Formats: sequence, C-alpha cells, structure tokens
Amino acid sequence: MNKKIKKLIAKKNRSKIICLTAYSKNIASILDKHCDIVLVGDSLGSVLYNYKSTRQVSFKTMIEHSKSVKLGVKKSLMVVDMPFNTYRTSKEALKNAKTIMSKTKCDAVKLEGGRKIYKIIKNLIKSKIPVMGHLGVLPQSAKSFKFKGKKLIERNKILKEAKLLEGAGVFSMVLECVESSLAKLITKEIRIPTIGIGASSNCDGQVLVTDDLTGLNPINVRFIKRYSNLRKIIEVAVINYKKEVKNLNFPKKKHSY
Ligand code: KIV
Repeated sequence: MNKKIKKLIAKKNRSKIICLTAYSKNIASILDKHCDIVLVGDSLGSVLYNYKSTRQVSFKTMIEHSKSVKLGVKKSLMVVDMPFNTYRTSKEALKNAKTIMSKTKCDAVKLEGGRKIYKIIKNLIKSKIPVMGHLGVLPQSAKSFKFKGKKLIERNKILKEAKLLEGAGVFSMVLECVESSLAKLITKEIRIPTIGIGASSNCDGQVLVTDDLTGLNPINVRFIKRYSNLRKIIEVAVINYKKEVKNLNFPKKKHSY
C-alpha cells in the first residue's frame, strides 16, 4: 500500500484529516503545506466553468487540471475525481483510471456511488488502483441536493453501502451532506477514515471547495464557512494597479529596462 495512504488511514481516531480541493498549481502548492489530501474535484465544472452539473466535466479537462495541480503537490495525498460516464463498466473504469494515474501521477481516484459501482471499485482495487469512495449526495447523479439520512430506509442504505465500499477496499470515503448522527454511526462502524462535507464534525476529516472557503466563489450554502474574502483582496489590488497606471506611478524606473 502507498505510504501516504497508510499514513492517512492511521490518522483515524487520532487526528482530524484535512482535505481541500485544488484545480491548479499555485493553489495546490499552498494547500500542500497544510492538507493531508488535495482533491482535484469535478466541482471545478461549476466553480470554474459555470456548468449546471458536474456531468458536463470532460475527461480531458480533469486530466489537464490534475497535471497542473501535481506541479504544486509534494507531500499531500493527491486524489482525482473520475468524471461522469468514465466508469460505467469495469473495463471502462480500469482503462480510464490507469490513464488518470499515469498522466497526472496522482495517488488515487475518487468515484461516486455505492452498491451500483461495488464491482467496478473492487476491480480497480484488485488492479492496484487506490480508490476513495463517495456516498451521500452524489452530484454526478443527484436529482436533489437535499441532505441524506433523514428516513430510516435511506440511513440503512447508506450505512450498508459504506460497509460495502470498505469491503471492496476503498482507503477512505467522502460523506457528502449526510445527517450528523448517521455520519457518526458510519464513522464508528468502519475502520477507514470518513471525510465529511456538510456531514458534521462527526467524520474523521473534513473537505471543502477552496474557492468557497476563500470567498473566491461567491456562493452561500449552509455547510460552507468563508474564511477570507479573496474577491475583495484581489479587487483592491486591481483597483490600486489601475490607479497607479493611470497616474503614471507604475511602472517606475526600477520596473523598466
Ligand atoms: O468535486 C468535489 O470537489 C468533491 C468534493 C466536494 C468532495 O467531490
């Protein structure tokens, strides 16, 4: 098993796991110093390209962004989302996961789903591709983004699927918008780390979209906390630059040849 993955699993019940998304080199290099996992999420579809759904994200786009992210990642575990329609069969998943691993040099791939993709995940892991699972709200197939785990039948299904994914050999799983007590139960019942987003502090770790927490992506969703207002910071820089150019205060002699 990859050393970084071993180290990550060992954090369960010891220390909270920190995960954030990156779509390019400069952000990745900042995250790398502080995160256990850097995720190239297909959320880049809505965050960067204004797509209505992550279903529109292409394989090529994920590869190109991941190659850029890799340039900034040295110590963290780098995970890449397999985009929609790239893992419909075991054969398709294996071919595409191998391409992602070899072209981007990432450590693992992430797939959304439980029972339906159990065999596909199992086959990837048998073929030595490390896989991170993703349960709860599944943006690639979701009809609604309402949190999961209110009804008993849904709770039982998600818990069963978490155990199924653990049995398939995933090294960790994202729980997206899963009700707090269910996230707690899953985290207690499985031996691999759960990474929550909108799933309370009961998970072993936490993931957010970096553009959301920095305030670069101006959206308001219950599970997001904004830690800075990067839009404002960038805007002030742009305004000052514009002012200095207009006033002939930039460039000065020292910026010229
Ligand atoms: O695509 C993504 O960024 C994700 C995280 C939100 C977990 O899957």
